[in-house]
Amino acid sequence: MAGNVLVVYYSTYGHTWKMAQSVEEGAKSVDGTEVRLRRIPELEEARKALSAQDFYVQVQEQMKDIPEVTHDDLRWADGIAWGIPTRYGNMPAQVKQFIDTTGALWQNGELEDKATGIFTSTATIHGGQESTILTSLVPLLHLGMIIVGTPYGQNPQIMTTEGIGGSPYGPGTLAGGDGSRQPVEDELTTARNLGSRLARVGARLKDMRQTAEHGQQDDAHQYEGQ
Ligand SMILES: Cc1cc2nc3c(=O)[nH]c(=O)nc-3n(C[C@H](O)[C@H](O)[C@H](O)COP(=O)(O)O)c2cc1C
Repeated sequence: MAGNVLVVYYSTYGHTWKMAQSVEEGAKSVDGTEVRLRRIPELEEARKALSAQDFYVQVQEQMKDIPEVTHDDLRWADGIAWGIPTRYGNMPAQVKQFIDTTGALWQNGELEDKATGIFTSTATIHGGQESTILTSLVPLLHLGMIIVGTPYGQNPQIMTTEGIGGSPYGPGTLAGGDGSRQPVEDELTTARNLGSRLARVGARLKDMRQTAEHGQQDDAHQYEGQ
């Protein structure tokens, strides 16, 4: 059985977007998987503050045809990959703002038992590669999602002392202090591996949810018959 994977990200300067494209590619490599790439909308205050930067304007223009994420995208997905660049080791307000609109989904348990994973981008190697992912897991756990990382066994490229992004917690890239560094192949490989793992685990969990649902229906029929 194949499942649906949503790759949803926020990006100011394009690094997280590039990683999102590799996560998408990895998910698509799993037979039968449907994939949606969606972006989290910019906040008006950020747009105002950043619009004097040509590079920011250029990247936002390039991304404009990628649809903005909706709650229905979250409902549709069996696996969700979140692209979250760091802000002081934590998630950006844009991502928090979107997650904070999911109260109704939480109340109805609509994201429970779905697979999820996070990929990140930081300026520097110790600027939040690990903490951004770990702190961003907290709301996803509240929503009842099941966490998928990128373990060393499947990602030997992260077992390194070189200056590249990525950890067992999830893929990552380094943008550099001035944003000029671009994701390197090892970082993109980890991103692809998150996509394919989410596709596989998401499909298994979908199967599990459907079996549980049928079991409940069978139980209900049994009671009706008594
Ligand atoms: C307000 C703010 C805070 C940031 N804090 C950090 C930080 O603590 N550590 C770090 O390495 N990079 C930090 N950055 C840099 C961003 O993480 C970097 O620009 C981003 O990863 C690039 O990804 P993008 O091209 O997808 O926007 C910060 C950027 C901003 C605007």
